[in-house]
Amino acid sequence: MRKICIINQKGGVGKTTTTINLAYGLAKEGRRVLMIDLDAQGNLATALGIESDKDLYNLLIENPEIQECIRRVDHNIDLIPSCETLAKAELIIAGEPGRETVLKRKLQGLKGYDYVLLDCPPGLSLLNQNAMLYAGEAIIPASTDELGLDALRKMIMVLQKMNEVFDHDIIISKVVPTMHDTRTRLSKMVLAQMQSEFYTNISDPIRMNSKLREAPNRKKSVFKFARSSNGAKDYLKLIKSVIHDEKKFGLTPIIEMNGKQAEEQEA
Ligand SMILES: Nc1ncnc2c1ncn2[C@@H]1O[C@H](COP(=O)(O)OP(=O)(O)OP(=O)(O)O)[C@@H](O)[C@H]1O
Ligand SMILES: [Mg+2]
Repeated sequence: MRKICIINQKGGVGKTTTTINLAYGLAKEGRRVLMIDLDAQGNLATALGIESDKDLYNLLIENPEIQECIRRVDHNIDLIPSCETLAKAELIIAGEPGRETVLKRKLQGLKGYDYVLLDCPPGLSLLNQNAMLYAGEAIIPASTDELGLDALRKMIMVLQKMNEVFDHDIIISKVVPTMHDTRTRLSKMVLAQMQSEFYTNISDPIRMNSKLREAPNRKKSVFKFARSSNGAKDYLKLIKSVIHDEKKFGLTPIIEMNGKQAEEQEA
């Protein structure tokens, strides 16, 4: 199971957009995906039209079965949603011992997924620390604008610090340049700088595309909403490269495992 937090302390850089479209793209390729919304704004539930009585608040504060907090979104995609009560959960766990690893303990028994994608809020809150210490990988969407590069460098330093302080080993599996405006010099310059500084794990950029903004209003992924848009094309490339890395991260997708079991039984 690949556990990936989609994180950047800078707001509005495309974290939620990346989480949703990654989830849909991976699900279409047969991967089982669980999204977890760590943002009290509850953007995922809103964008996907999901209602629930139990959510991440209940999972963190009470002792429900994990299943009780999971909602089905679509074929191969589930969600642990959040809403404004999550802010209260954060205050409560702040007073607990081992407060940075509450999420990790609560999700210990989770199985049945190829991917867990954590949509993190902006900032470096306790919930984000919990996300970083649960995840084995980080995907950092970074806007190709004036402050995007600075935020990216800071985020990388924070992840390194978390590894040091908590003896953790989260890997930055992808830096994803977002909001790329191919018409402006600034955007091109920032992208070039990101590519030269982080050349080992930087993905192709996600261009500015209005379809990416409109899709959530229609409760759809960009692939369903505007299949041939630049937004869909760019996210498809990202999904291919995430799938390409599966062997490196030791993932055998459940669909393949089941295939093998079926073959073994037939033999
Ligand atoms: N490549 C893009 N082109 C155009 N609009 C985009 C693009 N990516 C995201 N957006 C839009 O920009 C806004 C911010 O994106 P998003 O919500 O994904 O960012 P975020 O990092 O999750 O924000 P927050 O920090 O508030 O959680 C949204 O309205 C989204 O639809
Ligand atoms: Mg968001």
